[in-house]
Amino acid sequence: MNRPIILGIVGDSAAGKTTLTKGIAQVLGPENVTLICTDDYHRYDRQQRAELGITALHPDCNYLDIMQQHLSLLRTGQAILKPVYSHKTGTFEAPKYIKPSKFVIIEGLLGYSTRAARDAYDVKVYLAPPESLRATWKVKRDTQKRGYSEEQVLAELQKREPDSENFIRPQRQWSDIVVSFYPPTEDKDESNDHLNVRLVLRPTIPHPDFTQIIQPDSNHAESAVRLGLDRDMGKPVDVLEVDGHATLEQVNNIEHIMCNDMPYLKNVCDREINPELGTIAGTTGETLQSYPLALTQLIITYHMLKATQIYQ
Ligand code: G6P
Repeated sequence: MNRPIILGIVGDSAAGKTTLTKGIAQVLGPENVTLICTDDYHRYDRQQRAELGITALHPDCNYLDIMQQHLSLLRTGQAILKPVYSHKTGTFEAPKYIKPSKFVIIEGLLGYSTRAARDAYDVKVYLAPPESLRATWKVKRDTQKRGYSEEQVLAELQKREPDSENFIRPQRQWSDIVVSFYPPTEDKDESNDHLNVRLVLRPTIPHPDFTQIIQPDSNHAESAVRLGLDRDMGKPVDVLEVDGHATLEQVNNIEHIMCNDMPYLKNVCDREINPELGTIAGTTGETLQSYPLALTQLIITYHMLKATQIYQ
């Protein structure tokens, strides 16, 4: 069967969805990827939302039924006529004809909120940075890119919190991988330079064998790359942590584990990841260089390619 492989990237506003999506598309080759943002399925424009006192995070504020239909169509390789929401004007524009490429990345706020929508994805990622970091990112993006003042963004965050709690965060349970970038504890400087990453790997998809990174004679807990067992929302999971100051050797080690299992990934690494591992453009225009980000992109790419082997 030849159908597109579908990746979901879900998380709250300014959780880093677009940055991660762009990075993965870059790795897979932009010509092979169709990008879809589910903000386009908002039911009301900005003015109507203000009048109704409803936030974009509420399921009633989105055509989730149409989003779900479109996901099913894309999964079987069929084209859709997608609505278009402009973040610039807060209004809708003419719909766009979209034919899916080999890979489809669906990013947005409520992508996992219905059973039928969840069934459409091959790989489901949920982004969960600490709330303080998300607030910093949101202020930065919305003041630089969307014309809001800092006070407006902070007020909006507060207004949206009940909907975040009720509708966005519960979707974490449906993901195969939870991605949390976080600052090292001693680092009070809020820049993105040395963020660590914590990856929750649920047994819902087959992960590479990362146990090889555990050196029996070293103090694993102190290493910049750690693998452990934990529980996430009550369920047993593996957790892979990579610190921002991990060495290139440690990063290559993880890369090799994945490439040995998935030889095609080696081509991708040679072409896109090395030698400038992790250099990608953030949505606010700056360039981010980060091993944790690069490895996160690579692990997700691994799963996209794995799904190709399993389903195509
Ligand atoms: C959040 C989401 C957006 C969504 C928006 C609507 O910020 O991250 O992507 O479309 O809410 O609000 P707006 O600022 O466009 O009125």
